[in-house]
This record gives sequence, C-alpha cells and structure tokens, in this order.
Amino acid sequence: MDDRPDVSLPLPRACPFHVPPEYDRLRRAPGLAAAELPGGSLTWLVTRLDDARAALAAPGFTADRSDPAFPMPQKRPAPPARTPRPPLTPAERRVRSRGASLIGMDPPDHTAARRAVIGEFTARRVQGLRPRIQEIVDERIDAILDGGPPADLVPALSLPVPSEVICELLGVPYERHEFFQSRSMMLLSHRAPPEQRFDALRELFGFLDELVSAEEAEPGDNLLGRQVKRHGPGRGPGRDDDHRDLVSLAFLLLVAGHETTANMISLGVLAVLRDPATLMTAVMDPDRAPGAVEELLRYFSIADTGTGRIALADTEIGSTLVRTGEGVIVSLLAANHDPAAFPDPGTLDPARRIRQHVAFGSGPHQCLGQNLARAELEIVYRTFFQRIPGLQLAIPLDELPVKDDAFVYGLHGLPVTW
Ligand code: HEM
Repeated sequence: MDDRPDVSLPLPRACPFHVPPEYDRLRRAPGLAAAELPGGSLTWLVTRLDDARAALAAPGFTADRSDPAFPMPQKRPAPPARTPRPPLTPAERRVRSRGASLIGMDPPDHTAARRAVIGEFTARRVQGLRPRIQEIVDERIDAILDGGPPADLVPALSLPVPSEVICELLGVPYERHEFFQSRSMMLLSHRAPPEQRFDALRELFGFLDELVSAEEAEPGDNLLGRQVKRHGPGRGPGRDDDHRDLVSLAFLLLVAGHETTANMISLGVLAVLRDPATLMTAVMDPDRAPGAVEELLRYFSIADTGTGRIALADTEIGSTLVRTGEGVIVSLLAANHDPAAFPDPGTLDPARRIRQHVAFGSGPHQCLGQNLARAELEIVYRTFFQRIPGLQLAIPLDELPVKDDAFVYGLHGLPVTW
C-alpha cells in the first residue's frame, strides 16, 4: 500500500436515505481502496459484494480487535500512527484469542466457542421466543399510547425492546430488568458524559458477574444456565476461566444485540413513515414482511464499517494483494449497494426478495443473533403500525438527530405524533 489514501474514514452520513457517494466512486475503480483512518494509519477498504464475502471468509485474516493495528474508523485515542511493531507470534495470538469474546476470536477457538452457543439462536429456538417478544412489544406500545402523543420512539420503543429480549435470553430476574435497562441505555447514549457511561459499564459488568454466579449455583432454563450445565459439574467457583468467558459472552450479546436492533427499529419505522405507500402494507403483511425486513437491513446496513480484519498471511482480495500485517475494513453499506448484485440499489424495494446481502456480515463471524433480530424487527414493525395508525414524524426529516459517529449507524431520537 502506498501512502496516498483514496478516501478518509469515517465518511459522514448525514441522511439515512443517502449512501456516501465516495463508495460508488471507489467501487468503480479496480482493486481495493486505500483508506486513511483517524490518527493517520492506512487500511484497505472493500466496497464490492463479492470482495466483501471473500474478505470476511479469508482464513488468512484475524478478527482480533485487541490488536493495536486493528483498523477502526471511529475516532478513538489513536495509537502512534505507522509505528512498526513486531507481529504477534501464533502462540501469543492464540492466548489472546482465548481471552477475547467470540467476535474477536479466531479459529479453532472461535469455532468451538461459537458451536457451544449457536443452539441458542436457531430458527426453532427463536420461534419459541416470538410470543414473549410480542408481549414485550405490546407492553411498550401500551405505554406509548398511555403517555402520548407526542413520543420519542428511541427511548420509548427502539432501545427497550431489544434490551428486554436480551434480559429474557439471559434469564435476568424480572425485578432487575429496570436496572439492566437503565444501565445499558446509559452505555449506549453517546451524548451522555463519558464518566456516566463508564459507571454504567462498570455496573453492568458487576451485574452480569453476579448473574453468572447465580446461574453457576443454580442453573436456570435460560442461555446462561444451559451453558453452565453444558460444561458439567466442573464448572463453578474456582473455574475462573469458564466464569469469565460466560460474563464476556453475556456482555457481548448485550452489546451486539442491543444498539444494532434498536437502530434498525428506528430506521425501519422512519422508512415506513417516509414512504408509507410502498412499505406500510409490506411490513404489515405476514407473507411480505420477511422480504421487507431483509430489504431494510440491506438498505441501511447499519453496522457499515464494524467489520475490520488484519492479514496474518498475504492474501489476494479483488485483485489486490493484502500483505501480512495490513488492515482491511469491509464496508457492508457499500457492498450492499453494489449495483452488480442489487440492481438500482438506492431504491428501497420490499419485493426485492434477497437473502445474499451482508448486513449481518458473512463467513465465520456472521451475526449469531440474526434470526432473533429478524423476529424482533418483524414483530415491532407489524404491531406498531397496526396499533398506531396515522403516525407521523413530529419534526422535519432533515432535523432528525442522526448518529453517524458511533460503531452502529442510527438515530439519537425519533419524535413522532399521531
Ligand atoms: C439488526 C440487528 C443486527 C445487526 C445489523 C447485526 C450485525 C452484525 C454483524 C455485521 C456481525 C459481524 C461482525 C464481524 O464480522 O466482525 C455481527 C456479529 C455478531 N452479532 Fe449481530 N447484529 C444484529 C443483531 C444481533 C443480535 C440481536 C444479537 C444477539 C442477541 C447479535 C449477536 C452477535 C454476535 C454474538 C456476533 C459475533 C458472532 C461471531 O463472532 O461469531 N447480533 N452482527
């Protein structure tokens, strides 16, 4: 990679309905693009769908997010740019991989850790959760109807629904839901003072630690309880690694499943309000809703640049040689708007009937919670527009507070009236 970047990341995305035009420009040029990150380091950027799939499945790439060279487009305290450092040995990398949570692990540890938990997210298991998800959504809509109009849907619907669903999954006792909700919402409120977010993080970790200890003492019929039973009687106090792994897993599920689903709830509702003629009947019709949800996921691709990797071996992707030690970011938004795969990609077409989009990533790290996310989105959109007809935005579209400075794209607020 030479020193001249083709683009600087992050790209602003001021309107949810506009894809940054740089992605089209870069996709038209051959090979991968060179992107400059905050702090000045360079990484490869993938913008075509085929290349995205190849990069996310490449065995020569690591997902180790704790590596200082891991390419992050969000602003963060920058490590010294372009400082040469000795690469980790395979043994060092293996030790770090074991201590990481699933999303930062590499095979073979990743394969084993994922296999241990995948049964919790099968289509059948998620089907069993649907009645409870429906109750959670109904309770939230009752509260919105009691308190409004107007209402801000981000705190009233988008954030609490996935958080309640995760409580259900993890077996958080009902009387602790409020604590869990308030702390995880604080953690995600990107506008709150950093000290308050840090306190929320600390309290959540403490809480999850207690929750895992309680399941170790008496395993319940929930994801954590089943993991404890799976590991057999050897698990428990004294098995620090197992305990720590379960706390990390619980935390990962919260982080990976909360803000993502919340932002898709907000953006999906916004898309329907903006173009009800095309989308309203689609999200309310049980036969057409799954296709509409896929299209909304593709169109918004909210986890756009959260899929970084580092090459551990020279690997060719899309006619570019990615050399050992170089970083790669796959733009899921650019790939999902690749006209070679999705004709007229800028049109939100609920009848498109696509499954090969990469909004949930691809390859070994493909989203573990995707069936759950789909179920939540289908239930929320349908129930919401059935129960609150005549809904409108309470402020003009261009005044909506857009969140394009976080790991996941979305809205800080969505004021509506009816
Ligand atoms: C609309 C909602 C969601 C979106 C767009 C989304 C997106 C993604 C993406 C793009 C990845 C791949 C990251 C990578 O390759 O580096 C991922 C991984 C993951 N997601 Fe999701 N996600 C969503 C909801 C959820 C939910 C509801 C859960 C669970 C409660 C969840 C749990 C996970 C986990 C555990 C991983 C890591 C899997 C692994 O590394 O093997 N996600 N997600």
